Amino acid sequence: MRLALALISVAAVSTLALGPAADARSRADCERDYRPQVGQSGKDVVWVPTPDELVTKMLAMAKVTPKDYVVDLGAGDGKIAIAAGKKFGATATGIEYNPDMARLAQCYVQAEGVADKVKIIQGDIFKEDFSKATVVTMYLLPELNLCVRHRVLAMKPGTRVASHSFTMVEWEPDESFDADHRNAYLWVVPARVGGSWAFRNGNGSVDFTVSLTQSFQKIGGEVAIGGGRQPLLGASLQGDSIRFAFTDTKGVTQHFTGAVHGTTIIGSLRASGVADVDLAGKVQGALAPAPWAEMASACGRFYGK
Ligand SMILES: C[S@@+](CC[C@H](N)C(=O)[O-])C[C@H]1O[C@@H](n2cnc3c(N)ncnc32)[C@H](O)[C@@H]1O
Repeated sequence: MRLALALISVAAVSTLALGPAADARSRADCERDYRPQVGQSGKDVVWVPTPDELVTKMLAMAKVTPKDYVVDLGAGDGKIAIAAGKKFGATATGIEYNPDMARLAQCYVQAEGVADKVKIIQGDIFKEDFSKATVVTMYLLPELNLCVRHRVLAMKPGTRVASHSFTMVEWEPDESFDADHRNAYLWVVPARVGGSWAFRNGNGSVDFTVSLTQSFQKIGGEVAIGGGRQPLLGASLQGDSIRFAFTDTKGVTQHFTGAVHGTTIIGSLRASGVADVDLAGKVQGALAPAPWAEMASACGRFYGK
């Protein structure tokens, strides 16, 4: 009886020991099951991996931190998602259409020891939901970038997007670099601000209206103050951070800095020699339509339309 119990417990221990060991496959083990070829066809674009150095630069340009959730669209062998987890401590998902490639990438995730943070899913970037990402990366094609653009622009203001090689057409990048004749671009999703905003401070002593025009992150417009109108000077928008300046009725340049929260802007007005004035702006009526944020007409086929 004692011998039987002893045998059972030895068996239990070796099963426990076998479990993790069986999972601990190396990259070479992963490649024994499937070895992809650079240039092999994919659903909408072939597989060509981004060089390691550029992967690191793209993630650094997007200022990825352990607080981020990175999604790589068209993940290939998973290298961007793996680097986001391994080098930057982020949580990451790679979306890859080719099932063999997705399995290989998931095997690499295990081999690199980042399965607690990183996963690869087999799926189509035009069907999968990536709206919760705080950073989106891609190495696709110009047309594919254009056709995910409206979904990226609908994401939380401040979401960063890094693309290897290809642009977002008229959405100009906020940053770019060229390394060894390879370009990478970065965009920050802008808040929606087009429309008319009424600004006032707590006691109503400061009161003006700003009309903002917007195309992606580019903004401009004018201020109506004290019965007159003035153009906005140096208006800029990055994510939800907005700045502009204008000349007030006394000829003093006033600098506004604030943060957009949906239909409210909270911030302060600064002029030389006087204390800052805290202000809130409220949208008058509704935000202006944003045709620049809509799906491009050529993209319907990717969404079964
Ligand atoms: C140029 S590779 C880039 C791989 C990886 N992101 C990198 O930078 O190393 C593009 C990948 O997208 C995949 N792909 C193509 N169309 C796709 C789609 N509709 N949904 C998901 N993946 C797709 C291809 O199989 C290929 O692995």
